[in-house]
Amino acid sequence: MEKLVVTGPTQLKGEVVISGAKNAAVALLPATLLIDGVCTIENLPNISDIQISCKILEELGAKITWNSQHSITIDTTNIVTTKAPLDLTSKFRASYYVIGAMLGRMGEIEVGMPGGCKLGARPIDQHIKGFERLGATVSLEKGTIYAKAKKLKGTSIYMDIVSVGATINVMLAAVLAKGTTIIDNAAKEPHIVDVANFLNTMGADIRGAGTDVIKINGVEKLHGGATYSVVPDQIEAGTFMLAAVATRGDLLLKNCITKHLESITAKIIEVGGNVEDNGDSIRVWCNKRPSKANIKTLPYPGFPTDLQPQMGVVLSLANGTSTINESIWDSRFQYTDELNKMGAKITAQGKNAFFEGVKKLHGAPVYSTDLRAGAALVVAGTTAEGVTEIYNLQHIDRGYENIEEKFRKIGAKIERVKE
Ligand code: EPZ
Repeated sequence: MEKLVVTGPTQLKGEVVISGAKNAAVALLPATLLIDGVCTIENLPNISDIQISCKILEELGAKITWNSQHSITIDTTNIVTTKAPLDLTSKFRASYYVIGAMLGRMGEIEVGMPGGCKLGARPIDQHIKGFERLGATVSLEKGTIYAKAKKLKGTSIYMDIVSVGATINVMLAAVLAKGTTIIDNAAKEPHIVDVANFLNTMGADIRGAGTDVIKINGVEKLHGGATYSVVPDQIEAGTFMLAAVATRGDLLLKNCITKHLESITAKIIEVGGNVEDNGDSIRVWCNKRPSKANIKTLPYPGFPTDLQPQMGVVLSLANGTSTINESIWDSRFQYTDELNKMGAKITAQGKNAFFEGVKKLHGAPVYSTDLRAGAALVVAGTTAEGVTEIYNLQHIDRGYENIEEKFRKIGAKIERVKE
C-alpha cells in the first residue's frame, strides 16, 4: 500500500504547469472510435484513467502508439469487437462514452455499468433517453448495458437535468446519425466544447457547444489525419489556485484558460486572495487569513463541484463561519470527517456543510474518499502543522498527474511512501 506523507506547514510558492483536462481527455479517447482513420492527441494528462481508456480502445481494435508521455497516435480504422471489456469499464465513470461512440460507429455495444467516485446516486437515465430518442434500443441486465441501433436518426432531445456525461454521450452518438440532432438544456463545461472542437476537426458538424443548445448535423464519416491538443485542466488549475490561498502562498499557474476559472477567481477575491489574470496563465497569492464565504456548487459557469472539497479546506481556515451548499451530488462531504481529524470544525448535514473557521490544522492519518477529496487532503496537509499521512491514493492517481512532484516543486514537503 502507498501513502503520501506531507509535513507542514508550508507556504506554496513558484510555478506550476497545468496538465490537459482529465474530464476532456477521457471523452476524447472514446470519441476516436468514431473516426475511420488515424489521429494524434497531445497534452494528454498522464493519469491512470487515461491508461485504462487506452486499454479499452485497444481491446476494441484500436492501435495506439505513445509518441511521448503526453501524446498518442490512435488508429481506429479497424474495430474488431462490440464487447467492451467489463473489468476495465467498471473501473471509472467515463467508460460510458464508448456507448455513444460505438452506437454511432458500429450500431452496437455491450459494456459494463461504469464505476468512478462514489458521490451518491449516479443514474444514467438521461444518456439512455438520448440514445433511445435517436432510435437505439437499450437494455440493462446484471450490470451490463446492451445498446443497439440499425441506423441512428437525428431528433430533438431535451435533457431533464444538466448532465455533462449525457450531453457528451448523446453528442457522440449523433455525429454519424442521419439528419440533425438538437440537444436542449445541454451542459456547458469546457470539456464539452473541447470534445465538439475535436470532432469538428475530424469532419463532424457540431454547433453551439458551450451554450445550452447544441445542434449536430449528422455526417457520413469522420476522417483522421489531424492532431488535437487537450484543453488545460480547469479543475487542476483551480486546485492549485485554492492551495495558494490556503497556504497563504504565491503561485503562477501556466497553461490555463483563465476564462474557465472565473467562478473560482471571484470566490478567491471574496475571501481576500489576489488574482492576476494573464489570459493563458494566472497568478494567485494571499497574505492574510481568508475571510468566510458562502458557496453553492452549480453546473458551469457556476462554482464547480469538483473544487468544492478544495474550497472546503480554505473555508476550514477562514475567519468566521462559512457554508457550502452542494447542489450536484448527494454525498460529496465525506472528506469533512477527514478534515475534522486534522482539527477542522465542519458539520455536514445532507447537501449543506457549515465550516466554523479555525486558525490552523494539524497533521493526522486521513483517507482519500474520492478523487477531489484526495486533492483537498494534500492541500490541507501542506497547511497543517506536523505530519499528515494520506491513504487510498488510487483515487488521486486517477485524476492528478504526478501530484507529489508538482507540489514538491512549489515547496511542499511531500513523499510517496510504500508500506
Ligand atoms: C462529470 O460527471 C464529471 N466526470 C464529474 O467529475 C463532475 O463532478 C460532474 O460531471 C459534474 O460537473 C467526468 O466528466 C468524467 P453529470 P458526470 O452527468 O458526467 C445527475 C471528478 O472529480 N444525472 O453532469 O457523471 C447526476 O446524478 C468527477 O473529476 C442524472 O440524474 O456528471 C448528478 O446529480 C467526479 N441522470 C447531475 O446529474 C443522468 O443520466 C450531474 O451529473 C446523468 C446525470
